[in-house]
Amino acid sequence: MKKRILVTGGAGFIGSNLCEQLAKDENNEVYSLDNYFTGSKNNHVANVTYIEGLTVDIDKLITFEPHTVYHLGEYSRVEQSFDDIEKVWRFNKDGIFAVLEFVRKTGAKIVYAGSSTKFGDGGLGRSASPYAWTKATNTELVENYGVWFNVPYAITYFYNVYGNREIQTGKYATLIALFKEKMKNNETLTIVAPGSQQRNFTHIDDIVSGLILVGENGYGNDFGIGSPESYSIKEIAQMFGGKIEVLPERKGNRMTADVMTAKTEALGWKPTKNIQNYIEELRKNNWTR
Ligand SMILES: NC(=O)c1ccc[n+]([C@@H]2O[C@H](COP(=O)([O-])OP(=O)(O)OC[C@H]3O[C@@H](n4cnc5c(N)ncnc54)[C@H](O)[C@@H]3O)[C@@H](O)[C@H]2O)c1
Repeated sequence: MKKRILVTGGAGFIGSNLCEQLAKDENNEVYSLDNYFTGSKNNHVANVTYIEGLTVDIDKLITFEPHTVYHLGEYSRVEQSFDDIEKVWRFNKDGIFAVLEFVRKTGAKIVYAGSSTKFGDGGLGRSASPYAWTKATNTELVENYGVWFNVPYAITYFYNVYGNREIQTGKYATLIALFKEKMKNNETLTIVAPGSQQRNFTHIDDIVSGLILVGENGYGNDFGIGSPESYSIKEIAQMFGGKIEVLPERKGNRMTADVMTAKTEALGWKPTKNIQNYIEELRKNNWTR
C-alpha cells in the first residue's frame, strides 16, 4: 500500500519543493492542503492532489487517514506579522489546534515546521514578533501533544530558506529573491539597520532533504535544518554587488540565532549548498533565474 502524505502549505515555497520531491517516490501518495494566501497554483507539481482550504477546517477537508502530516501551512513572515495579527492568529494558532486534533484522531505522525526565530538573541527572539511567538508556542503544543496523547511528532527548525519558487515580489517576498529582482531591474538593495544581523541562509534542497529524513526517521524536538555558515545582511548585499541603502531599524528583527543541527545530522543529513555560490550562479545568469 502507498504511503499517504499530507503537506499543509503545499502550494507555498518550501511546501511545493517538498511535495515535488515526495511525489518522485512512487511509494508515496502526496496531498496538499493550502488556502493560497501566499501559495500559488503556479507552484503546483505533478502527481500531487491539491485541496484548497484552511488548516482550521482540516477535519472536514481531509477525508482519509494520512501516515504523515508535514505541517508547513502557516502565516510565515516576521516583520509583516505586526500588521497581520488576525491572520497570524487564525492561520497559526487556530490552525495548529485543528491540525493537532486531526493527527491525534487519525494517528498520523506530525512533522512541524518550526522557526529558528525561537533561538534568536539567546532565546529573546521567541517573543520578538507575533510570528515568532506563534511558532515558538506551537512547538511547545506539538511537544505536549506527544506527551499528553502519544502523538508521534518531530519538530524541525528552518533558517532563512532561499532557492527555487521563493517569493520575489510584493509584501511577502524574501530577501535573496528580492535582491535578485532588484539586481535584474538595476534597483538599490535596501537593508534594515543595523545590517550586521547574522543569518544562516539555507538552500531549499537542503531543507527538503532534511525534512524527508526527519519525516522518515526523526522523533522528538530539535531537528535544526540550517547551513553552518552565517553572514550579515550587509555582507549578503555586498555579495550581490548593487547599490545599498540602509533603512531604519524595524520591530521584530533579531541579531543572531543559534544553529543546532546535530540531531538532523545524526540521521545522515548534511548541508550541500552555499549562498555565496548561489549568488555567483545568479550573477552568471544575469539575475534571470
Ligand atoms: N522560509 C523560511 O526561511 C522559513 C524559516 C523558518 C520557518 N519557516 C516555516 O516554513 C513553513 C513554510 O514557509 P514558506 O517559506 O514556504 O512560506 P510560504 O508563505 O511560501 O508558504 C506557506 C504556505 O502555507 C499556506 N498557508 C498559510 N496559512 C495557511 C492555513 N492556515 N491553511 C492552509 N494553508 C495555509 C500559504 O498559502 C502558503 O502556500 C512555514 O510554516 C514557515 O513558518 C520558513
